[in-house]
Amino acid sequence: LIARAALNQLIVPNFEEFKQQIEAIYLACKDSNRGKVADYIPQLAKMNGDYWGVSVCSIDGQRHSFGDSSIPFTLQSCSKPFIYGLALDRLGPEVVHRYVGFEPSGRIFNKLLLGENNLPHNPMMNSGAIMVCSLLQSLTYQNLSLAEKFDLMLNYFRSLSGLEYLEFCNSVYMSEFETGDRNFALAHYMKDNKCYPENSDMKTSLNLYFQVCSLEVTAESGAVMAATLANAGECPITGEQVLKPESVRDVLSVMQSSGMYDYSGRFSFRVGLPAKSGVGGGVLLVIPGVMGICTFSPLLEEQGNSAKGLDFAKLLVKKFVFHPY
Ligand code: DON
Repeated sequence: LIARAALNQLIVPNFEEFKQQIEAIYLACKDSNRGKVADYIPQLAKMNGDYWGVSVCSIDGQRHSFGDSSIPFTLQSCSKPFIYGLALDRLGPEVVHRYVGFEPSGRIFNKLLLGENNLPHNPMMNSGAIMVCSLLQSLTYQNLSLAEKFDLMLNYFRSLSGLEYLEFCNSVYMSEFETGDRNFALAHYMKDNKCYPENSDMKTSLNLYFQVCSLEVTAESGAVMAATLANAGECPITGEQVLKPESVRDVLSVMQSSGMYDYSGRFSFRVGLPAKSGVGGGVLLVIPGVMGICTFSPLLEEQGNSAKGLDFAKLLVKKFVFHPY
């Protein structure tokens, strides 16, 4: 960062001015109380709906945060792009996409439904993410114990977040498990349709899915994760190449088409950026080659996206020329 600054090569040369502009957008979204806290998982319903935090991290590590940016929340579906990226890195897109499709589903994220050739539609749907967990379990880490797999996953997510706040929330995990009938149904449905690789164990795959949903970040650490994607897989804080650039390209393409649930088409039309939301209230926004942004507000719109996160993204592309078209 210092070297880039000295050479006048920062990606956001006037970061002070940028901060003020982002703050204005943050404040413009603050007073809306549209949406409601997710309650289909009891533990999520306990979250305070008033939280609102935004954090930005440029690809050269310039950072700033606003509001409740150090409150922990669970990644939920924001974990999906990253487990997909890990599977791509380990197995390559050919193998991964033998088991999971590319197409947006246009349906709610946990719809009991398979796409073309009886494959889950894409890795951003629950079915697709459970399948990605199965690939990780059975094709790449099959020789590790469950405990070792958990540690590996935790360390992988820690690397993505530049070793910043990244924990596991056991109570959310238990709550997911106890009330995860739909996800169990999805996993069984895929088993019935012979979707899994041969030696895969449905139960441990589902368990891994619940575990990654229950990883906890803050807007600050989430912004670093988004920035790692914006920076072609190299974490801007530690300099570690966590994912291959070609895996990140694939991840961003699928985020662009399917990252915002059954709002993805509208989001792509209005905002044009790869993004991923989770029912914990997080939204990861990636501005490739420039920065990552994480917003956090647990009030969700009907489709499961954070209402303030959506407002923020729309105002962001109004203010800056981040919409690519
Ligand atoms: O599977 C679930 O219900 C949650 N653990 C994750 C949901 C989420 O954020 C929405 N997903 N696409």
